Amino acid sequence: MKKIAVFTSGGDAPGMNACIRAVVRGAIYYETEVYGIYRGFQGMIEGDFVKMESHSVSNILQHGGTILKSARSMDFKTKAGRKLAYNNLKSKGIDGIVAIGGDGTFTGATLFFKEYGIPVIGVPGTIDNDIFGTDKTIGFDTAVNTTLDAIDKIRDTADSHGRIFFIEVMGRDSGYIAIQSAIGGGAESVILPEKDATAQDVVQHLKDGIRREKSFSIVVVAEKDDPGYAVELANAVKENIESKDIRVTILGHIQRGGTPTSTDRTLASRLGLGAVEGLLDGKKDVMAGVINDKMVYTPLKDAISKTKPLNPDLIRAMKILSI
Ligand code: F6P
Repeated sequence: MKKIAVFTSGGDAPGMNACIRAVVRGAIYYETEVYGIYRGFQGMIEGDFVKMESHSVSNILQHGGTILKSARSMDFKTKAGRKLAYNNLKSKGIDGIVAIGGDGTFTGATLFFKEYGIPVIGVPGTIDNDIFGTDKTIGFDTAVNTTLDAIDKIRDTADSHGRIFFIEVMGRDSGYIAIQSAIGGGAESVILPEKDATAQDVVQHLKDGIRREKSFSIVVVAEKDDPGYAVELANAVKENIESKDIRVTILGHIQRGGTPTSTDRTLASRLGLGAVEGLLDGKKDVMAGVINDKMVYTPLKDAISKTKPLNPDLIRAMKILSI
Protein backbone atom coordinates (compact mmCIF):
# COMPACT_ATOMS: atom_id res chain seq x y z
CA MET A 1 0.00 0.00 0.00
CA LYS A 2 1.55 3.26 -1.15
CA LYS A 3 -1.15 5.91 -0.72
CA ILE A 4 -4.04 6.14 1.68
CA ALA A 5 -6.78 8.69 2.24
CA VAL A 6 -8.61 9.77 5.39
CA PHE A 7 -11.94 11.54 5.83
CA THR A 8 -14.50 12.41 8.49
CA SER A 9 -18.20 11.99 7.85
CA GLY A 10 -21.58 12.29 9.59
CA GLY A 11 -21.95 14.19 12.85
CA ASP A 12 -18.62 15.60 14.00
CA ALA A 13 -17.19 14.60 17.38
CA PRO A 14 -14.49 16.08 19.61
CA GLY A 15 -11.31 14.07 19.05
CA MET A 16 -11.73 13.68 15.30
CA ASN A 17 -8.78 16.04 14.77
CA ALA A 18 -6.59 13.97 17.08
CA CYS A 19 -7.56 10.95 14.99
CA ILE A 20 -6.76 12.66 11.68
CA ARG A 21 -3.38 13.64 13.12
CA ALA A 22 -2.70 10.04 14.15
CA VAL A 23 -3.62 8.71 10.71
CA VAL A 24 -1.38 11.25 8.95
CA ARG A 25 1.58 10.84 11.29
CA GLY A 26 1.14 7.06 11.40
CA ALA A 27 1.10 6.81 7.60
CA ILE A 28 4.18 9.03 7.26
CA TYR A 29 6.00 6.95 9.88
CA TYR A 30 5.38 3.87 7.71
CA GLU A 31 6.47 5.76 4.56
CA THR A 32 2.98 5.85 3.09
CA GLU A 33 1.59 8.92 1.33
CA VAL A 34 -1.58 10.28 2.82
CA TYR A 35 -4.38 12.44 1.42
CA GLY A 36 -7.17 14.18 3.31
CA ILE A 37 -10.61 14.22 1.72
CA TYR A 38 -12.78 17.21 2.61
CA ARG A 39 -16.47 16.81 3.55
CA GLY A 40 -16.48 13.02 3.67
CA PHE A 41 -18.10 11.09 0.82
CA GLN A 42 -19.23 14.33 -0.81
CA GLY A 43 -15.62 15.52 -1.18
CA MET A 44 -14.70 12.08 -2.51
CA ILE A 45 -17.29 12.54 -5.26
CA GLU A 46 -16.17 16.10 -6.00
CA GLY A 47 -12.43 15.30 -5.92
CA ASP A 48 -11.82 17.62 -2.97
CA PHE A 49 -8.52 16.05 -1.86
CA VAL A 50 -5.43 17.52 -0.21
CA LYS A 51 -2.02 15.92 0.18
CA MET A 52 -1.16 15.89 3.87
CA GLU A 53 2.25 16.26 5.46
CA SER A 54 3.30 15.98 9.07
CA HIS A 55 2.96 19.76 9.52
CA SER A 56 -0.59 19.71 8.05
CA VAL A 57 -1.74 18.26 11.36
CA SER A 58 0.34 20.39 13.73
CA ASN A 59 -1.55 22.05 16.57
CA ILE A 60 -4.92 20.43 15.87
CA LEU A 61 -5.26 17.63 18.39
CA GLN A 62 -6.64 19.87 21.14
CA HIS A 63 -9.41 21.33 18.95
CA GLY A 64 -12.99 20.11 18.57
CA GLY A 65 -14.64 19.82 15.14
CA THR A 66 -12.75 18.40 12.18
CA ILE A 67 -10.22 20.17 9.97
CA LEU A 68 -11.40 17.96 7.09
CA LYS A 69 -15.03 19.14 7.60
CA SER A 70 -17.95 16.77 7.52
CA ALA A 71 -21.14 16.15 5.57
CA ARG A 72 -23.95 13.66 5.18
CA SER A 73 -23.81 12.95 1.42
CA MET A 74 -26.97 12.10 -0.48
CA ASP A 75 -25.05 11.72 -3.77
CA PHE A 76 -22.98 8.86 -2.34
CA LYS A 77 -26.21 6.89 -1.92
CA THR A 78 -26.43 6.70 -5.71
CA LYS A 79 -24.41 4.34 -7.93
CA ALA A 80 -23.39 7.27 -10.13
CA GLY A 81 -22.04 9.16 -7.11
CA ARG A 82 -19.98 6.20 -5.93
CA LYS A 83 -18.56 5.69 -9.45
CA LEU A 84 -17.36 9.31 -9.49
CA ALA A 85 -15.80 8.78 -6.06
CA TYR A 86 -13.99 5.66 -7.28
CA ASN A 87 -12.65 7.45 -10.38
CA ASN A 88 -11.26 10.24 -8.19
CA LEU A 89 -9.54 7.82 -5.83
CA LYS A 90 -8.09 5.84 -8.77
CA SER A 91 -6.77 8.92 -10.50
CA LYS A 92 -4.87 9.82 -7.33
CA GLY A 93 -3.62 6.22 -6.98
CA ILE A 94 -5.20 5.81 -3.54
CA ASP A 95 -5.23 2.20 -2.44
CA GLY A 96 -6.57 2.39 1.13
CA ILE A 97 -9.10 4.48 3.06
CA VAL A 98 -9.62 5.42 6.70
CA ALA A 99 -13.25 6.46 7.31
CA ILE A 100 -13.89 8.26 10.61
CA GLY A 101 -17.56 8.46 11.57
CA GLY A 102 -20.59 6.55 12.82
CA ASP A 103 -22.90 3.88 11.45
CA GLY A 104 -24.01 5.95 8.42
CA THR A 105 -20.35 6.39 7.45
CA PHE A 106 -19.64 2.69 7.86
CA THR A 107 -22.70 1.74 5.80
CA GLY A 108 -21.35 3.82 2.88
CA ALA A 109 -17.80 2.54 3.42
CA THR A 110 -18.65 -1.17 3.38
CA LEU A 111 -20.89 -0.78 0.33
CA PHE A 112 -18.09 1.06 -1.48
CA PHE A 113 -15.60 -1.66 -0.54
CA LYS A 114 -17.96 -4.35 -1.87
CA GLU A 115 -18.47 -2.50 -5.15
CA TYR A 116 -14.92 -1.34 -5.84
CA GLY A 117 -12.63 -3.39 -3.57
CA ILE A 118 -10.54 -0.51 -2.20
CA PRO A 119 -9.55 -1.58 1.33
CA VAL A 120 -11.27 0.52 3.98
CA ILE A 121 -10.98 0.67 7.74
CA GLY A 122 -13.55 2.52 9.83
CA VAL A 123 -12.83 4.45 13.02
CA PRO A 124 -15.77 5.04 15.39
CA GLY A 125 -16.20 8.79 15.75
CA THR A 126 -19.57 9.84 17.17
CA ILE A 127 -20.66 11.33 20.48
CA ASP A 128 -23.47 8.75 20.69
CA ASN A 129 -21.22 5.78 21.63
CA ASP A 130 -23.70 3.53 19.83
CA ILE A 131 -21.20 1.47 17.82
CA PHE A 132 -20.63 -2.23 18.39
CA GLY A 133 -16.97 -3.32 18.43
CA THR A 134 -15.51 -0.68 20.72
CA ASP A 135 -16.05 0.15 24.38
CA LYS A 136 -16.13 3.87 23.61
CA THR A 137 -16.42 5.99 20.48
CA ILE A 138 -14.38 9.13 19.87
CA GLY A 139 -16.21 12.16 21.28
CA PHE A 140 -18.44 10.39 23.77
CA ASP A 141 -16.37 11.20 26.85
CA THR A 142 -16.11 14.88 25.91
CA ALA A 143 -19.84 15.11 25.18
CA VAL A 144 -20.71 13.60 28.57
CA ASN A 145 -18.36 16.01 30.31
CA THR A 146 -20.00 18.89 28.45
CA THR A 147 -23.45 17.77 29.59
CA LEU A 148 -22.20 17.40 33.16
CA ASP A 149 -20.84 20.93 33.13
CA ALA A 150 -24.26 22.15 31.97
CA ILE A 151 -26.17 20.01 34.48
CA ASP A 152 -24.01 21.28 37.36
CA LYS A 153 -24.84 24.85 36.36
CA ILE A 154 -28.53 24.12 36.00
CA ARG A 155 -28.53 22.49 39.46
CA ASP A 156 -27.46 25.80 40.99
CA THR A 157 -30.46 27.66 39.63
CA ALA A 158 -32.83 24.69 40.08
CA ASP A 159 -31.82 24.59 43.76
CA SER A 160 -32.19 28.37 44.25
CA HIS A 161 -35.73 28.36 42.85
CA GLY A 162 -36.83 24.89 43.93
CA ARG A 163 -37.70 23.97 40.36
CA ILE A 164 -37.90 20.82 38.28
CA PHE A 165 -35.65 20.93 35.19
CA PHE A 166 -35.95 18.71 32.14
CA ILE A 167 -32.57 18.61 30.38
CA GLU A 168 -32.54 17.13 26.88
CA VAL A 169 -29.34 15.49 25.68
CA MET A 170 -28.34 13.99 22.31
CA GLY A 171 -28.48 10.35 21.30
CA ARG A 172 -31.48 9.74 19.06
CA ASP A 173 -31.39 5.95 19.28
CA SER A 174 -28.99 5.43 22.10
CA GLY A 175 -29.10 6.37 25.77
CA TYR A 176 -25.36 6.31 26.50
CA ILE A 177 -25.03 10.06 26.91
CA ALA A 178 -28.28 10.23 28.87
CA ILE A 179 -27.53 7.47 31.39
CA GLN A 180 -23.99 8.58 32.04
CA SER A 181 -24.93 12.24 32.46
CA ALA A 182 -27.87 11.31 34.66
CA ILE A 183 -25.66 9.31 37.01
CA GLY A 184 -22.79 11.81 36.98
CA GLY A 185 -25.18 14.76 37.25
CA GLY A 186 -27.16 13.28 40.15
CA ALA A 187 -30.46 13.38 38.24
CA GLU A 188 -33.71 12.18 39.76
CA SER A 189 -34.91 10.56 36.56
CA VAL A 190 -33.64 9.57 33.12
CA ILE A 191 -35.61 8.90 29.95
CA LEU A 192 -33.81 6.51 27.61
CA PRO A 193 -34.67 5.44 24.05
CA GLU A 194 -33.98 1.84 25.12
CA LYS A 195 -36.66 1.85 27.86
CA ASP A 196 -40.25 2.91 27.59
CA ALA A 197 -41.16 5.38 30.31
CA THR A 198 -44.37 7.37 30.36
CA ALA A 199 -44.97 10.87 31.69
CA GLN A 200 -46.94 9.17 34.49
CA ASP A 201 -43.84 7.21 35.57
CA VAL A 202 -41.88 10.44 35.75
CA VAL A 203 -44.67 12.17 37.68
CA GLN A 204 -44.77 9.33 40.20
CA HIS A 205 -41.02 9.40 40.71
CA LEU A 206 -40.92 13.17 41.10
CA LYS A 207 -43.85 13.14 43.53
CA ASP A 208 -42.09 10.49 45.62
CA GLY A 209 -39.06 12.77 45.71
CA ILE A 210 -41.14 15.76 46.78
CA ARG A 211 -42.65 13.66 49.56
CA ARG A 212 -39.13 12.85 50.71
CA GLU A 213 -38.47 16.61 50.83
CA LYS A 214 -36.46 17.01 47.66
CA SER A 215 -36.59 20.72 46.98
CA PHE A 216 -35.60 20.51 43.30
CA SER A 217 -35.21 17.83 40.64
CA ILE A 218 -33.34 17.13 37.42
CA VAL A 219 -34.77 14.88 34.71
CA VAL A 220 -32.37 13.94 31.89
CA VAL A 221 -34.16 13.16 28.63
CA ALA A 222 -32.57 11.55 25.55
CA GLU A 223 -33.82 13.35 22.45
CA LYS A 224 -36.07 11.51 20.01
CA ASP A 225 -35.86 11.85 16.24
CA ASP A 226 -36.27 15.60 16.46
CA PRO A 227 -35.12 17.79 19.32
CA GLY A 228 -37.91 18.94 21.64
CA TYR A 229 -39.16 15.74 23.26
CA ALA A 230 -38.25 17.16 26.68
CA VAL A 231 -40.74 20.01 26.13
CA GLU A 232 -43.50 17.52 25.36
CA LEU A 233 -42.68 15.49 28.45
CA ALA A 234 -42.38 18.56 30.68
CA ASN A 235 -45.81 19.80 29.56
CA ALA A 236 -47.37 16.45 30.36
CA VAL A 237 -45.73 16.40 33.80
CA LYS A 238 -46.73 20.02 34.51
CA GLU A 239 -50.40 19.10 34.39
CA ASN A 240 -49.85 16.68 37.26
CA ILE A 241 -47.42 18.55 39.49
CA GLU A 242 -48.74 22.02 40.13
CA SER A 243 -46.72 22.69 43.27
CA LYS A 244 -43.48 23.12 41.31
CA ASP A 245 -42.21 25.37 38.56
CA ILE A 246 -40.94 23.39 35.59
CA ARG A 247 -38.29 24.51 33.11
CA VAL A 248 -36.69 22.85 30.06
CA THR A 249 -33.14 23.14 28.67
CA ILE A 250 -32.21 21.52 25.37
CA LEU A 251 -28.42 21.19 25.23
CA GLY A 252 -28.33 20.39 21.49
CA HIS A 253 -25.17 20.84 19.46
CA ILE A 254 -23.19 22.28 22.37
CA GLN A 255 -22.53 18.60 23.07
CA ARG A 256 -20.74 18.17 19.74
CA GLY A 257 -18.12 20.90 20.23
CA GLY A 258 -15.29 21.80 22.54
CA THR A 259 -11.86 20.66 23.54
CA PRO A 260 -11.58 16.87 23.58
CA THR A 261 -10.88 15.31 26.98
CA SER A 262 -7.71 13.38 27.67
CA THR A 263 -9.69 10.13 27.25
CA ASP A 264 -10.88 11.15 23.79
CA ARG A 265 -7.47 12.39 22.66
CA THR A 266 -5.82 9.14 23.68
CA LEU A 267 -8.56 6.96 22.19
CA ALA A 268 -8.56 8.93 18.92
CA SER A 269 -4.77 8.75 18.66
CA ARG A 270 -4.72 5.00 19.28
CA LEU A 271 -7.55 4.32 16.84
CA GLY A 272 -6.05 6.49 14.08
CA LEU A 273 -2.73 4.68 14.34
CA GLY A 274 -4.53 1.33 14.69
CA ALA A 275 -6.43 2.01 11.45
CA VAL A 276 -3.22 2.74 9.52
CA GLU A 277 -1.45 -0.30 10.95
CA GLY A 278 -4.50 -2.43 10.16
CA LEU A 279 -4.57 -1.27 6.54
CA LEU A 280 -0.83 -1.88 6.13
CA ASP A 281 -1.32 -5.31 7.65
CA GLY A 282 -3.89 -6.20 4.95
CA LYS A 283 -7.07 -5.69 6.98
CA LYS A 284 -10.11 -4.42 5.10
CA ASP A 285 -13.83 -3.84 5.55
CA VAL A 286 -13.34 -3.68 9.33
CA MET A 287 -13.54 -1.11 12.08
CA ALA A 288 -10.72 -0.43 14.54
CA GLY A 289 -11.96 -0.33 18.11
CA VAL A 290 -10.63 -0.60 21.66
CA ILE A 291 -12.16 -3.25 23.90
CA ASN A 292 -10.76 -3.87 27.39
CA ASP A 293 -7.86 -1.60 26.50
CA LYS A 294 -6.86 -3.72 23.48
CA MET A 295 -7.05 -2.84 19.78
CA VAL A 296 -9.60 -5.02 18.00
CA TYR A 297 -10.87 -5.12 14.40
CA THR A 298 -14.56 -5.87 13.89
CA PRO A 299 -16.19 -6.47 10.48
CA LEU A 300 -17.96 -3.27 9.41
CA LYS A 301 -21.17 -5.21 8.89
CA ASP A 302 -21.16 -6.19 12.59
CA ALA A 303 -20.24 -2.68 13.72
CA ILE A 304 -23.30 -1.43 11.85
CA SER A 305 -25.84 -4.15 12.54
CA LYS A 306 -25.09 -5.36 16.07
CA THR A 307 -26.25 -3.29 18.99
CA LYS A 308 -24.15 -2.41 21.99
CA PRO A 309 -26.69 -2.55 24.81
CA LEU A 310 -26.55 -0.16 27.74
CA ASN A 311 -24.86 -1.68 30.75
CA PRO A 312 -27.74 -2.83 33.02
CA ASP A 313 -25.51 -2.05 36.02
CA LEU A 314 -25.71 1.63 35.11
CA ILE A 315 -29.50 1.51 34.90
CA ARG A 316 -29.64 -0.23 38.27
CA ALA A 317 -27.26 2.27 39.86
CA MET A 318 -29.33 5.15 38.51
CA LYS A 319 -32.51 3.69 40.00
CA ILE A 320 -31.00 3.15 43.44
CA LEU A 321 -29.10 6.41 43.70
CA SER A 322 -31.94 8.65 42.54
CA ILE A 323 -34.25 7.90 45.49
O1 F6P B 1 -25.08 11.08 15.71
C1 F6P B 1 -24.60 12.18 16.38
C2 F6P B 1 -25.71 13.17 16.64
O2 F6P B 1 -25.15 14.26 17.34
C3 F6P B 1 -26.94 12.63 17.37
O3 F6P B 1 -26.77 12.51 18.75
C4 F6P B 1 -27.96 13.64 16.99
O4 F6P B 1 -29.25 13.12 17.11
C5 F6P B 1 -27.61 13.97 15.55
O5 F6P B 1 -26.24 13.67 15.42
C6 F6P B 1 -27.87 15.38 15.13
O6 F6P B 1 -27.57 15.50 13.79
P1 F6P B 1 -27.45 16.87 12.99
O7 F6P B 1 -26.13 17.50 13.36
O8 F6P B 1 -27.52 16.48 11.58
O9 F6P B 1 -28.59 17.73 13.45
